[in-house]
Amino acid sequence: MHVPMAILQLLTCLIAAILSTAQGSSPPSIPHQIHLLRPQTGAAGESVVGVSCLSWRLGVETNNIINWKQVPEKCAGYLGHYMLGHQYREDSKVITDEAFLYAKSLRLAQDGKNIWVFDIDETSLSNLPYYAKHGFGVELYNATAFNEWVLTGKALALPESLKLYKKLLSLGIKVAFLTGRPEDQRTVTATNLKNAGFKTWEKLILKDLSIYKGKTAVFFKSNERAKLEKKGYRIIGNIGDQWSDLLGIPTGNRTFKLPDPMKIPQTILELSHDSLLNIPRQIHLLRPKTTGATFVDKVEGLSCLSWRLAVETNNIIGWKTVPQECEGYVGNYVLGGQYREDSRVVTNQAFLYAKSLNLSGDGKDVWVFDIDETSLSNLPYYADNGFGVEPYNASQFNEWVLKGVAPPLPESLELYHKLLALGIKVVFLTGRGEDQITVTSNNLKNTGYHTWEKLILKIVGNIGDQWSDLLGSSTGNRTFKLPDPLYYIA
Ligand SMILES: *[C@@H]1O[C@H](CO)[C@@H](O)[C@H](O)[C@H]1NC(C)=O
Ligand SMILES: *[C@@H]1O[C@H](CO)[C@@H](O)[C@H](O)[C@H]1NC(C)=O
Ligand SMILES: *[C@@H]1O[C@H](CO)[C@@H](O)[C@H](O)[C@H]1NC(C)=O
Ligand SMILES: *[C@@H]1O[C@H](CO)[C@@H](O)[C@H](O)[C@H]1NC(C)=O
Ligand SMILES: *[C@@H]1O[C@H](CO)[C@@H](O)[C@H](O)[C@H]1NC(C)=O
Ligand SMILES: [Mg+2]
Repeated sequence: MHVPMAILQLLTCLIAAILSTAQGSSPPSIPHQIHLLRPQTGAAGESVVGVSCLSWRLGVETNNIINWKQVPEKCAGYLGHYMLGHQYREDSKVITDEAFLYAKSLRLAQDGKNIWVFDIDETSLSNLPYYAKHGFGVELYNATAFNEWVLTGKALALPESLKLYKKLLSLGIKVAFLTGRPEDQRTVTATNLKNAGFKTWEKLILKDLSIYKGKTAVFFKSNERAKLEKKGYRIIGNIGDQWSDLLGIPTGNRTFKLPDPMKIPQTILELSHDSLLNIPRQIHLLRPKTTGATFVDKVEGLSCLSWRLAVETNNIIGWKTVPQECEGYVGNYVLGGQYREDSRVVTNQAFLYAKSLNLSGDGKDVWVFDIDETSLSNLPYYADNGFGVEPYNASQFNEWVLKGVAPPLPESLELYHKLLALGIKVVFLTGRGEDQITVTSNNLKNTGYHTWEKLILKIVGNIGDQWSDLLGSSTGNRTFKLPDPLYYIA
């Protein structure tokens, strides 16, 4: 595709402007206010074209959608707007702020052994200028051309990551860069890091192809983290844009997942330049704080959106109540079409996975369902109680549970029926107390969950709205995280 030079220059300047304000105190000034997350849901939840790209992105960021090769074609424009807009920066900032709060809360021995692992591409350095020049992948991904870009050493710092890096150093924490870039890019990578403001490090670990050729990113990275620990370092934090940066033992004491819906550079992102240039001035808010269907021309609520993403990706943990200023936002979200759409993408993914399995048919294949906010919804309760803004009141919540009138979550009920049809048994696993067994059974039956297996047999899948439903050993062969910004269970 032919792209006029002027347009390329404009885009490159735009990106440079966004990325070069690491030290600046004011937010980046973007000439054309472009869409944030492009919510596109009506207040009553009516379907609007493009809404599923937002759900798709959440599915990717929460590791529900895995092994994808390419951004869905219809989402290319959406993702381009996201990466170039405020939202990407804001989403990153909430996560790096959280990482710093965590680091600051630790009482660290000042023995030089505390280390924080940083991934490089799309975590410390951004390759967006490359993708802009190459039409954001309109030209097919070309490894030779990408390596030529890397060798220019001109990748820019991701501003929020650079801030975090400096703050960690000031706490006496050492930094290790751990990257899938090959050893022969060591010199240029080191120079690029320094020029971008990452001046010092304890280790710069690149992929030694004589050891790791053909090995997965998880294998390479966890192996190298284990080596660090063997050398006596304590990995207190680990930050990356890919789940493969963060999974695999040892992970480090706490991990932080930066946004990256593009999976650069494995993914080919096809972005139409026309869609970027033809940007309406109106900003679409994810969930306007009004109940009306019209979008408001203000960026209010922006950080609630980032807060929600950070919660769903397990970056913000241990929180007690929804931030006061996000009550309206969260209320609109859970009552609007977006919550359903987000759930639908996850349950569809779960069903596709289940269908792809060749199950033995011996009646021992089990799928674990959490109950609250997974199978049954307590929204009527939360709607009366500030959508998670009010501190949790156990006795009041139990009074609600005992009424046994919680409605089903429609997408979960559909998944339940489809799994049964595949011959998979269902086990409900809940934190509800034994004394609530009768009311819970009746509530489940009355809402369409007619049958279940009580014993936990061989677990093939596990779906829940809390990370605590999904973490731990015996997770099940694959886990699925439903959205839930209302409360947090450790
Ligand atoms: C890939 O990039 C290299 C270097 O820029 C170029 O010579 C080559 O023609 C490109 N290949 C394709 C298939 O476009
Ligand atoms: C990191 O985790 C280890 C093992 O659980 C624990 O002993 C240690 O106290 C943790 N360190 C910090 C700084 O939290
Ligand atoms: C399941 O079986 C079918 C046909 O026997 C086969 O084509 C497919 O690859 C199998 N899938 C898996 C995940 O093993
Ligand atoms: C919790 O709910 C109970 C029952 O509705 C009520 O009596 C009590 O005052 C509430 N506690 C607080 C701290 O609000
Ligand atoms: C689930 O995982 C176990 C252990 O890794 C494996 O043996 C089994 O084949 C897997 N089952 C399915 C259905 O994928
Ligand atoms: Mg990366």
